[in-house]
Amino acid sequence: MNAVLLTDIGELTTNDPYHGGPLGVMRDAALVVSDGRVSWIGPAASAPAADERRAMDGRAVLPAFVDSHTHLIFAGDRSAEFEARMAGSPYQGGGISITVARTIAASDDELRTLLGSRMAELRAMGTGTVEIKSGYGLSVEQEVRLLRLAAEATDETTLLAHVIPTADGPSDDVADRGAYVRLFCEQMLPRCATLARWLDVFCEPASPHAFDGDESRAILTAGRSAGFQLRVHGNQLAAGPGVQLACELGAASVDHCTHLEQADIDALAASDTVATLLPAAEFSTRASYPPARALLAAGATVALATDCNPGSSHTSSMPFVIALAVREMQMTPAEAVWAATAGAARSLRRDDVGVLRPGALARLTVLNAPSSVHLAYRPGMPIATVIDID
Ligand code: NIG
Ligand code: FE
Repeated sequence: MNAVLLTDIGELTTNDPYHGGPLGVMRDAALVVSDGRVSWIGPAASAPAADERRAMDGRAVLPAFVDSHTHLIFAGDRSAEFEARMAGSPYQGGGISITVARTIAASDDELRTLLGSRMAELRAMGTGTVEIKSGYGLSVEQEVRLLRLAAEATDETTLLAHVIPTADGPSDDVADRGAYVRLFCEQMLPRCATLARWLDVFCEPASPHAFDGDESRAILTAGRSAGFQLRVHGNQLAAGPGVQLACELGAASVDHCTHLEQADIDALAASDTVATLLPAAEFSTRASYPPARALLAAGATVALATDCNPGSSHTSSMPFVIALAVREMQMTPAEAVWAATAGAARSLRRDDVGVLRPGALARLTVLNAPSSVHLAYRPGMPIATVIDID
């Protein structure tokens, strides 16, 4: 067993309430990693002996970011759609079919290479745990292929019921919306049940491409019976049934939450469903930001994630998301850092990441800065990176 001692940590964010404050911050602390897990945390002065010592030179250390919502497996570029949007076109999800066509046309190796470089990028920006959704395949065979490739990169794989295929797309002989929902429930779910931990539905009656409340309910209830745990894309483009449905069905998370009514906020506050906010999507679609303060005031659990995808949010930078949460959603720096680590871990129902205490996985991020406030204070700067311990 190789024990590595990290010393001279400027500020250690543990997210362990035992150490007090919102982030369980410790100063003059040291931490030991053995066999990939945190084995000791305490005052530097009483640190145990270790095989190796690494000085952090006064830099801040925190649990690696947990990016609990990404669509990382895709091919193709939609920068023209972004350019048109910046000139005033609305975002309705119509461009998804372009990414579907490009993704289906890509070989396994091409997708593997694209995914590998995206994984390297997010790690270099401090993300240590990532959820990856399928959703750019649409047919059973293609969704199975995307989930298999995603599983090479993460344990947190999600089957996404993304959009209704168009007539010229990969149809599986789908005649209409009802036929696709049936195909999803009867064929897609059983084929993907062992490949994905999660099931997610783009519940958005305001989009002609996505699923309405009844269709979403049918898919989610069938998925729950098939053994999936649930997540929902809800209330992204307009108020709608997504948030209430997620809370009612016991989903771990409902993501976007851009357009909420008071009843949605009350339902989130009364449930275990985490409200995952994706402000980089609002940034990239020039939409209004989710009401983070109202959610926090009501007592809802808030997470932050990137939503990295080629249409609505082509970034995998958690520091950028933290900066947006602070600047645009009036979250405090501490609330934003907690939401990007412990909150996002909770949305994945994980207690071994997003927190540093003995037994937790040693997924750590170091900042080229003395405190985590710098994540929002120095927007766009490459100050965060995952620490390689081995
Ligand atoms: O989370 N809303 C649905 N899906 C993605 C966007 C996908 C795309 O535009 O390619 C999202 O924003
Ligand atoms: Fe998404």
